[in-house]
Amino acid sequence: MDKVRQALDRARAERAAAGIEGDRVVATIETRPEGAAGDTSHGPPSSALARALAVGADLLDRHRVLRPDDRSPAAQAFRMLRTQILQRMRENGWQTLGVVSARSLDGKTTVAANLAIAIAADPRHTAVLVDLDLHRPAVAKLFGAGADDDVAEVLRERSTVDAMMLKPTGMERLRLLPARLGGAEGAPGLVARPSCEALLSELKHRYTNRIIVVDMPPLLDNDDALTLAPLCDCLLFVVAEGRTARGDVTRALTLLRETPVIGTVLNNCSSLSPAPAPAQR
Ligand SMILES: Nc1ncnc2c1ncn2[C@@H]1O[C@H](COP(=O)(O)OP(=O)(O)OP(=O)(O)O)[C@@H](O)[C@H]1O
Ligand SMILES: [Mg+2]
Repeated sequence: MDKVRQALDRARAERAAAGIEGDRVVATIETRPEGAAGDTSHGPPSSALARALAVGADLLDRHRVLRPDDRSPAAQAFRMLRTQILQRMRENGWQTLGVVSARSLDGKTTVAANLAIAIAADPRHTAVLVDLDLHRPAVAKLFGAGADDDVAEVLRERSTVDAMMLKPTGMERLRLLPARLGGAEGAPGLVARPSCEALLSELKHRYTNRIIVVDMPPLLDNDDALTLAPLCDCLLFVVAEGRTARGDVTRALTLLRETPVIGTVLNNCSSLSPAPAPAQR
C-alpha cells in the first residue's frame, strides 16, 4: 500500500512538473496479470447485432489483458481507475474517452483494453473499445480479431458499425471495433474524414449508458491523435514510468488544449519482465 501511495505521490509530482493542474484522476498500474481463470457474464448485451468473437484465455494473458473476474492488484487498480473516471464522466455528461500518450509503446492499448473491460464489468454501463490508431493497430492482436475486422472500412464508408462490431466471449457488455493488423494502407488522413466524427457520434448516441474508449495513436509521432482529440469528450494520458521523457509529457500536454485531460495513468513497465512473444494468429 505504501508503495502504491509513493507511486501516486510521484505521479502527482510528475503531473505538477509537467504543468498539469486540478484534481484529476491518477492511477498507477504496476503489476502484470496473474492469469485468473474463468469468464463472467454481466447482463444483457448492448447490441444484439455484434458478431461473437471467441477469445482465448492464453491470448489475453499473453497480452496482459485482465478478465473481468481477475482479482490481481493490476485488476484492482483498473477497477479503481474505472470508478474514478466514470464519476468524472458522469458529472460532465461525457461518454467518449480517448487513451493517449506522448510516444509509441507507452502502454495505451493495454490500458485502453483493460479499462474498457473494467467499465463493461460495471452493470450500469456498456463499453466499446475502438481502435483508431490506424498506424499501429493492436486491439485485434489482443483479442484475436481477424483480417476482415477493420474499423477503417467504416471510415472509408465501405462498411457499417453493425457489420464490424464484435462481442468478445465472457465479456457480455463489451464491444470491440478493431482495426486490421498491418492495415496502414490508406490510413493517413482517414481519421480526419467526416466519417470518423460520424462513427464516434453514432457510437455515442445509440446508447446513453455506453462509454466509448478510443485507443489513440501517440501525440508526438503523427497528427492523427491531434485530429482525434477534439472528437473525444475527454482524454486519459498514459505515462510509461522510467520511459516517457518529461519533455515529451510537457510537449504532448501542451498540444491538448481543447479536450479535457481527465487523468494520468502511470504505467510501470520497468519492474516487469519483457513483453512475451507476439500471439500466434
Ligand atoms: N504495465 C506493463 N508491464 C509490462 N509490459 C507492459 C505494460 N503495459 C504494456 N506493456 C507491454 O508493452 C508493450 C506496448 O504496450 P502497448 O501496445 O499497450 O503500448 P502502446 O502505447 O499502445 O503502443 P503503440 O504506440 O504501438 O500503440 C506491449 O508488449 C505490452 O504488453
Ligand atoms: Mg497501441
